Amino acid sequence: MKSSIILLSLLVLAFTSHSAAAKKHPLDSLDSLSASEINHVRKLVLKSKLGLHKNISFQYVALEAPEKETVYEWKYGSSSLPPRKATVIARIPGETHQILVDITSKEVVYDEVYHGFGYPIFTSEEQVKAYELPMEYPPFIKSIRTRGLDMKSVVCNTFSVGWFGEKKQGKRVINVLCFYTNGTVNIYARPIEGITVVVDLDQMKITGYIDRTKVPVPKAQGTDYRESTQKPPFGPKTNPISIEQPEGPSFKVHGHMVEWANWKFHVGFDLKAGPVISTADVYDPEKRRFRSVMYRAFISELFVPYMDPSEEWYYKTYFDNGEFGLGLSSVSLQPLNDCPRHAHYMDAIYAGANGKPVVKENVFCIFERYAGDVSWRHTETGIPDLVVTEVRPEVSLVVRMVATVGNYDYILDWEFKKNGAIRGNVGLSGILEYKATSYTHLDQIQKKNEDIYGNLLAENTIGTFHDHFLTFYLDMDVDGIENSFVKAMIKRKDVTNGKSPRKSYWTVEKMVAKTEDDAKIQFDLKKPADLLVINPNKKSKVGQDIAYRLATGSIAKSLLSLDDYPQIRATFTNNQVWVSRYNRTEQWAGGDYMDQSHGDDTLAVWTNKNRDIENKDIVLWYTMGIHHIPYQEDFPMMPTLSEGFELKPTNFFERNPILKLESMNASSLPKCKKAS
Ligand SMILES: *[C@@H]1O[C@H](CO)[C@@H](O)[C@H](O)[C@H]1NC(C)=O
Ligand SMILES: *[C@@H]1O[C@H](CO)[C@@H](O)[C@H](O)[C@H]1NC(C)=O
Ligand SMILES: *[C@@H]1O[C@H](CO)[C@@H](O)[C@H](O)[C@H]1NC(C)=O
Repeated sequence: MKSSIILLSLLVLAFTSHSAAAKKHPLDSLDSLSASEINHVRKLVLKSKLGLHKNISFQYVALEAPEKETVYEWKYGSSSLPPRKATVIARIPGETHQILVDITSKEVVYDEVYHGFGYPIFTSEEQVKAYELPMEYPPFIKSIRTRGLDMKSVVCNTFSVGWFGEKKQGKRVINVLCFYTNGTVNIYARPIEGITVVVDLDQMKITGYIDRTKVPVPKAQGTDYRESTQKPPFGPKTNPISIEQPEGPSFKVHGHMVEWANWKFHVGFDLKAGPVISTADVYDPEKRRFRSVMYRAFISELFVPYMDPSEEWYYKTYFDNGEFGLGLSSVSLQPLNDCPRHAHYMDAIYAGANGKPVVKENVFCIFERYAGDVSWRHTETGIPDLVVTEVRPEVSLVVRMVATVGNYDYILDWEFKKNGAIRGNVGLSGILEYKATSYTHLDQIQKKNEDIYGNLLAENTIGTFHDHFLTFYLDMDVDGIENSFVKAMIKRKDVTNGKSPRKSYWTVEKMVAKTEDDAKIQFDLKKPADLLVINPNKKSKVGQDIAYRLATGSIAKSLLSLDDYPQIRATFTNNQVWVSRYNRTEQWAGGDYMDQSHGDDTLAVWTNKNRDIENKDIVLWYTMGIHHIPYQEDFPMMPTLSEGFELKPTNFFERNPILKLESMNASSLPKCKKAS
């Protein structure tokens, strides 16, 4: 959860125009600007009055989502491309500007000063400047010396400060915390506890300094995770393994459009959201055409509250999308280990703080997953003298991006299945945000009966309790734009007429949500339900509603009190599912200005309008929640914790759409020899 990329300088950053922009598919770049468009936007803003300001910084530049109607018209035949516009959020000291640039007509449409609460996403550049400041700050240098540490081994990182009830908007500040590298690259395992440096980002200077507690820096031994530094004893080894595709993979990529098996969709990139999947259509072999499923989907916000209320830790309640950006935190994927052989890699392009395009290489990988699973099977032994066995292997397509938000690594997957399902999956790995302590054994803590707000994982090291709430924006357009939300409630019925030996059974009662209030869902084991997005204007042959349903994964509810400030900012996690009326500008569940937000522009506020959602263009919001009690195995590096959900076709196809899948046959498979 948190902060900027210390190794920023090691990433491949090219500030030149990008050649891949040359080949353009008509549907390309639905969610992203090209390098040349970013350059145009920058020039237009710098030419405007705002451009006269020396300290202008481009916090967020994105393609202004085109009107949906225009996209559909364009998709189904109209030759003209939707107009290309860019949203720009820029900062000059003391002011946030919201700017709309029309790229096509080459003009700044408007430039307004934002007067509401909250600040835009941090840029990498300002975070780097901020965390370098302590290195020259005499009180900090003194604190480091007092601890007997060497400044040469000190590195720092930036942490958002949150909001804790101040009525007025606070200054645009960020906290800087520091770590000790001597003897390890695992900086988060060696926190220099007790020192907080506050940096005013507008003035770019230190405006607050606290050095309160002195606890030892946990030792370096056993914290390094690099393969080259591991020492025996080692455990048993397994043989090398890989997937062979001698004829190449079966997907096609044109720019950002991907076609594979029965799927066609677009992969976009956003600085806050990271991957954006749009216009996902599935092929229906009976209707012999593609049918729309999902117009747009991405992670809208990621709330990570820590459960330590002490002076040095209470503010750690991060909103990774709005503050640090999953896209901004994306990293270059490592072939063979991040993604299998035959994966296709795609770069990401975004605007840096100076407005110029930054190209980050190999941010996405796309690959076919074959993990030895079964997509369907049956063995029939009920027929005399005949055994029928039919099995089909499961092969799916994965689009992957990894966001390394400071210490944590989020492995973000969108998986497309031949059975028509779309899976959103998140793998959590990386390093916990450890807290240093003087304790080295649980007995000492129990003797003092002290609350340490976490688990002792190693000597002098606490893994602090925390949560992850990932709120997914799922704009479903199930076989058309107008949809309804249906709760298929599973309810117990009691047998009272004495005609059955049974006393009870369950049945399904459907409720069509008329308004946004009807669609606010908090999960309750005693009130199970299937959650369907239906197209009320179309029916299957036997008269069923054509639908997709949300098969939820990990569900956890925030246990913070509703009036706790982080929770006020995160009210969008109060329900695990919401349905809102589609509004092009309502995309970020916590608001457009998440840093130090007051929670006054959230999904909870928008849905207060209680708009009609029956047979309308609607958006489904799902929050996947994970409570994380750290255990010793999470030290010094977390084994991946994987959680996901599925959107499954539900009376969408007339029958099992993968009945006619082919089985695998040894004669069609490559005969591989051991590599020499
Ligand atoms: C750095 O670590 C080495 C051992 O790895 C130790 O000998 C040395 O004293 C440490 N230096 C500081 C300044 O902590
Ligand atoms: C603003 O710009 C001036 C001149 O380029 C520079 O000296 C100063 O450091 C800048 N201030 C900030 C906060 O970046
Ligand atoms: C869309 O949402 C924005 C922000 O909530 C609001 O200002 C605007 O009025 C909405 N538009 C419509 C058509 O409801």
